[in-house]
Amino acid sequence: MTDAFLVTDKVALITGGGNGIGQETAIVLAAAGARVIATDVNEPGLLETRTRGEEQGLTIETRHLDVSDPAAVADLVDDVVAQYSRLDILVNAAGIMIMRKALEVTPEELEKVLRVNVGGTFFACQAAGRVMSSGGSIINLTSAILDRASPGRVTYAISKGGVAQLTRTFALELGPVGIRVNAIAPGWVETGMTNQHWTDSDGTVDHTKRAEYIAMMTTASPLSIVGTTRDVALSALQLASEAGSFITGQVVRINGGSYMA
Ligand SMILES: NC(=O)c1ccc[n+]([C@@H]2O[C@H](COP(=O)([O-])OP(=O)(O)OC[C@H]3O[C@@H](n4cnc5c(N)ncnc54)[C@H](O)[C@@H]3O)[C@@H](O)[C@H]2O)c1
Repeated sequence: MTDAFLVTDKVALITGGGNGIGQETAIVLAAAGARVIATDVNEPGLLETRTRGEEQGLTIETRHLDVSDPAAVADLVDDVVAQYSRLDILVNAAGIMIMRKALEVTPEELEKVLRVNVGGTFFACQAAGRVMSSGGSIINLTSAILDRASPGRVTYAISKGGVAQLTRTFALELGPVGIRVNAIAPGWVETGMTNQHWTDSDGTVDHTKRAEYIAMMTTASPLSIVGTTRDVALSALQLASEAGSFITGQVVRINGGSYMA
């Protein structure tokens, strides 16, 4: 039965694989048998991904990729297919968040967030959809912010709405060739992205603020827990594997019950 969760010899490309959810997904997919190519703009993060893999006896290939460059995304997907003759799984985990109240957002900030979060996801789906000739699974990262607006995150919220919508359209258009396209909407998970709530620009961590934030997030869950990157990665594994065969066009909410749609 558990074989349904294996992705043995599947070729998996992950964006944002140098930290947080993308890094953990690289580890989990590799542990489940996939040949993983983790990409990011964060070179030290990619080294950490490789090292974490090696510590567990896993080989994870790493490549530099800036998802805000559609041509670079297409070239990298073509390289992967040239090297491995196939692409089976794409996880779009690269993302950024700019904290700014709506009245203060600049055109440049809005453009930047949309270019990475929406454009990066869109053009990676497009490039992968063109080469997944034997079917495949695409997993995009949206957010629990879909179900609950949050002050200071308007550009991020807009972008994650866009990711949910593009996921549904790709699922419709790619379904006939056997490609499933889903999004995961995680609740709060501690990563480099969320650390900015309690980390100053000089890197100083406000431990009291961090503890208060985690306590607040814990209280929001009827299970009184906060999630981990592994919780999200395991959901990605389900969507990537045979266990997800009947799932497409969905936004899968992984949030400990903090938000119920
Ligand atoms: N952590 C959470 O609570 C949470 C909740 C909901 C959704 N998400 C989403 O999950 C995804 C992963 O976030 P995370 O929390 O692991 O954040 P993270 O900051 O730890 O990791 C994001 C990674 O994306 C990379 N990245 C940023 N811009 C890039 C670009 N232009 N090209 C390539 N890589 C780029 C970063 O270098 C980083 O390694 C994001 O899409 C995020 O919006 C996170």
